[in-house]
Amino acid sequence: MSTKPRVCFVGIGNMGNPMAANLIKAGYPVAVFDLVRGKADNLIRLGATWAASLAEGAAAADVVIASLPGPVQVHDVMLGKAGVLTSVRSGTTVIDTSTSAVDLVRELAAFAGTRQVDFLEAPVTNAVDFAALGKLSIFVGGSQACFDKHKPIFEVLGEKIFHVGTSGNGATVKLLTNLCWFVGAAAIGEALMLGAKAGIPLATVWEAIKSSAGNSWVAEHDVPSIFAGHYDPSFSLALCCKDLGLINGIAESQGYALTMGGVAQSLFQEAMAKYGKDAGELHVVKLLEERVGLYLRPPKGVPVTPIDVPKQSKQPALMMEAREQMPQGVAENYRYWGDDKTVFVEHAKGCRFTDCDSKTFVDFRLGYGPIILGYRDERVDRAVVEQIMRRGTLSGFATALDATVVKQIKALCPNIGKMRFANSGTEAVMGAVRTARGYTRRDRIAIVEGCFHGLYDEMMWKADVENWNPKGKTAPDVIPFGGGIPQRARELVDFIQLNDFEALERLFAARADTLACVAIEPIIGNCGSIAASQPWLQRLRDLCTSNGTMLLIDEVKSGFRVAKGGAQQLYGIHADLTTYAKAMGNGYPVAAFGGRSDVMDVVGSHPGGVVHGGTYTANLVALSAAHATLKILAETDALKTVDRVGTQIRDLLGRVFTAAGIEHAFAGPPAMFGIHFTPQVPANYRDWRVTNSELYRKFAWKLIELGVMLEPDSREPWFVCEAHQHLDLGWLEDIATKAITFARAN
Ligand SMILES: Cc1ncc(COP(=O)(O)O)c(C=O)c1O
Repeated sequence: MSTKPRVCFVGIGNMGNPMAANLIKAGYPVAVFDLVRGKADNLIRLGATWAASLAEGAAAADVVIASLPGPVQVHDVMLGKAGVLTSVRSGTTVIDTSTSAVDLVRELAAFAGTRQVDFLEAPVTNAVDFAALGKLSIFVGGSQACFDKHKPIFEVLGEKIFHVGTSGNGATVKLLTNLCWFVGAAAIGEALMLGAKAGIPLATVWEAIKSSAGNSWVAEHDVPSIFAGHYDPSFSLALCCKDLGLINGIAESQGYALTMGGVAQSLFQEAMAKYGKDAGELHVVKLLEERVGLYLRPPKGVPVTPIDVPKQSKQPALMMEAREQMPQGVAENYRYWGDDKTVFVEHAKGCRFTDCDSKTFVDFRLGYGPIILGYRDERVDRAVVEQIMRRGTLSGFATALDATVVKQIKALCPNIGKMRFANSGTEAVMGAVRTARGYTRRDRIAIVEGCFHGLYDEMMWKADVENWNPKGKTAPDVIPFGGGIPQRARELVDFIQLNDFEALERLFAARADTLACVAIEPIIGNCGSIAASQPWLQRLRDLCTSNGTMLLIDEVKSGFRVAKGGAQQLYGIHADLTTYAKAMGNGYPVAAFGGRSDVMDVVGSHPGGVVHGGTYTANLVALSAAHATLKILAETDALKTVDRVGTQIRDLLGRVFTAAGIEHAFAGPPAMFGIHFTPQVPANYRDWRVTNSELYRKFAWKLIELGVMLEPDSREPWFVCEAHQHLDLGWLEDIATKAITFARAN
């Protein structure tokens, strides 16, 4: 058995991974932990073990080493709930190799001291390839005795190791070296430009710099990347900007301002706004090239001509402007895909849309599902325009159209006796839950893990499978979707697991006479279309019936999509209350809830009646769109077409994955199918957690780059619309092959 201390390595990304590998090769027993399990594959092959959780890994270690992107992550990992410093045993040493903030380092060291834990900061420098070679430079801050004790570890990781004094000094030294690097990167570009504009061969200019007092690490290492025009993606502009913020902050805290630090910060920020946060640090040189009109390509530089210059994207400017006006620069949270990746749409038609840079995408996201016929379907749009021209948009009074649309829905969905309208899925679910409570005179509700029912407080709780240990014995924690959700909103909500018979029996045994409703998406449109089994859904139906509980089937995504009568038609199982939205109006904002007439009749302004209302309820834009869409769905083969095309697309993707040797399983019906990289269709949300969602993410991002739009998260299904029938499936097969080949290799 090894006599070396047991190490837990947290954060095995670009830098952490080769560092952990070197420790394993040097004979240390190493457990690893990262948010992305796949990053551990090579280390496990080398002999590492996978820590089931941060807390478990930390508690079992003699030394915990972290390598994290920046102070935010360091704070979370070290001080968060079940974080490193709260989980380690006394006597453990925690070594943080991240580039962190001075104040945070001091806070961590002080906190560690209260737990009899030793803390060393040890930021590292030099690039990833130096990490792999064990040739990092390391700046250790903390007690001399602790440094001496763990020197053997540092000697595995690095070549030049400095004990720089007390906690916080390591961060200061690391950041001041980065100041030299960043300023040097900008300066080397300017020096090369001076030579190139003078007509001197760039190779000569470079050799001259290297042989002079102006030589630097940047001059020696980075210039080839500039000459090759790939601007070195090893360190991102976002990290540069983060570090420059910290650097200038140190000077500020010492009572003065840095001139070069300030200039560098604004330069790197300008580059990040233009090229995106993931672009490499040498894009500051590209900024100069484009300003001057000359690329630094040997022998003497080449002009920036309109042919060579990639068309300038309008996205960064739009994003910058939007950020001034809206939190995160978007109208609602889910549209934010990062500053550089947030999509701005110019126009849409059929199954395609075009973005602000004139790039056209075939769309399988379809606005999270509403588009069932196609964008700008003329049959629907004309009906809406005629309605507006004739009657206006709303009057706050009844129209004959209200009952007409309900009759249309009833003709397709025998589960509906009476209905009311709403403007969004959220509002429809709120109406249905209130109706269930009003009818049953009970307060509790139950929801199924992985389902989503909109943005109101009681529904804003989820099983936290991302941070759950699938091999452990406990259920995932239930956490709020975000801030602003009072704990009280959770008190009346129970969670069950899909397809878990025991959970179902337990729920009703515990809550029989207090449960107003169980809400469920039987085909979970918010979890890759993982579906309830027929017997499980039937058992849920039976238990609801025998306990006087309302079964609330949320068909906001599945309604008028997976079949004319929605998921309930496919199962032949009917709800007491149902919600509809999305496909009901082909993209116009309309929603509804309804169900058994005796249940719905509790809604009304009679004494004790359930309140339902709203200024925009059943407005004529919404209802005329629903009227036209439902007519098309009822009277044409639109949904048959959607099914046929969806099946063809699923088949072709299956061929592509099989040819690439990727285990895969499709879930859900062809109009709304999920792709899971796993041998068997997941049975519930917890099963989804062990699918290869990271591979899916890479596959999806590559598809997006190649012109196929989808959500880069395998919990969102592929939505198919009638207009996809015009798609060139050969093209799609080719693109999917390229994307999966790329994803597998990266
Ligand atoms: C099943 C389900 N219910 C409710 C909602 C909330 O709908 P909306 O976003 O229209 O408020 C959604 C949204 O995606 C949903 O998928």
